[in-house]
Amino acid sequence: MKTNSYIFPLAIIFLLAGFTPKLTAQNYPFELPKLPYAYNALEPAVDAQTMEIHHSKHHAGYVKNLNAAVKENNYEKYSLDELMLYAGEFDNAIRNNAGGHYNHSLFWRILSLNNPFNAGSEVGKAVNVTFGSLDSLKKLLNKAGATRFGSGWAWLYVTTDLKLAVSSSPNQDNPIMDVSPERGVPILCIDVWEHAYYLKYQNKRGDYLAALIDAVNWEAVDNNYREALISPLLRTVAKETWKELITFHGVMSQTFHPSEEGNLKPIRERSGEFLAKAKALQTEKMPAALDDPEIKKAIGDLIKGAAILNQLVIKKADDKTLIHNLDELHDVFHTIQGLCRH
Ligand SMILES: [Fe+2]
Repeated sequence: MKTNSYIFPLAIIFLLAGFTPKLTAQNYPFELPKLPYAYNALEPAVDAQTMEIHHSKHHAGYVKNLNAAVKENNYEKYSLDELMLYAGEFDNAIRNNAGGHYNHSLFWRILSLNNPFNAGSEVGKAVNVTFGSLDSLKKLLNKAGATRFGSGWAWLYVTTDLKLAVSSSPNQDNPIMDVSPERGVPILCIDVWEHAYYLKYQNKRGDYLAALIDAVNWEAVDNNYREALISPLLRTVAKETWKELITFHGVMSQTFHPSEEGNLKPIRERSGEFLAKAKALQTEKMPAALDDPEIKKAIGDLIKGAAILNQLVIKKADDKTLIHNLDELHDVFHTIQGLCRH
């Protein structure tokens, strides 16, 4: 299981900035959230009986099964974010129930008949810029939900480039998960499992989708959007999916770790490549979610250090000097993204 040393410092910055994460930073034991309205609050879009069964039986079941799976595997130290971010490394009971708990928690919060779309809100402006209009977005969400074969979800999420996008996922997967082909932080979701609509709509998933999309709480989605843009979770997803960073990490691992064992052959052979891959972090497009001065400065330090290291290798410096320089670069790399694992 991978660890993620970047989440906690960023979470502290996040809290200091005055934001209280609503769906992130949940820890074991996980709890069924109270519905923020009565079971009949969404009628006629969603009937009270469906809401009651969905919340008190289905969602409660995911929470119960998640806690049981976490306990059985001694995963109590992992947050809900971590269970989802690295879902592919856990067994399916974790993936399905962590997703089930997170997805439904978000779902309840983004539904209301009383908070219509506001074109002047931050998310309203982003919707119009990205999709042209609310109607276009509704069509995309409807299509995403209608074409998802079997059970799953439709999503509106913030990408690692801070853009809005629509996708769908099977089962209880979501865009936070490493198993998802489309990654980001969700701000709106629509449950297209039959348990979400069958009592009232039977097989008419399209009718349910149309009604549901008109029952979105846009004030909550606007809050989710503004929160997602600066969230540690989005930065972590960006870090985990940044191609150049993953490539550099590979070269760093394959040169630094042998040097810890006194083997300098890999870095002597690959110092030019080491420098080139460090430079690629600057020359290739960085995910907008990670575009901040501190990270840019650290990348600048990494490139400078890699250039010095390359010169030392060319001048056939002794092992001790190379170990010292590589060790310092390894620390700089850690400060950039915490990917290097021992
Ligand atoms: Fe559901």
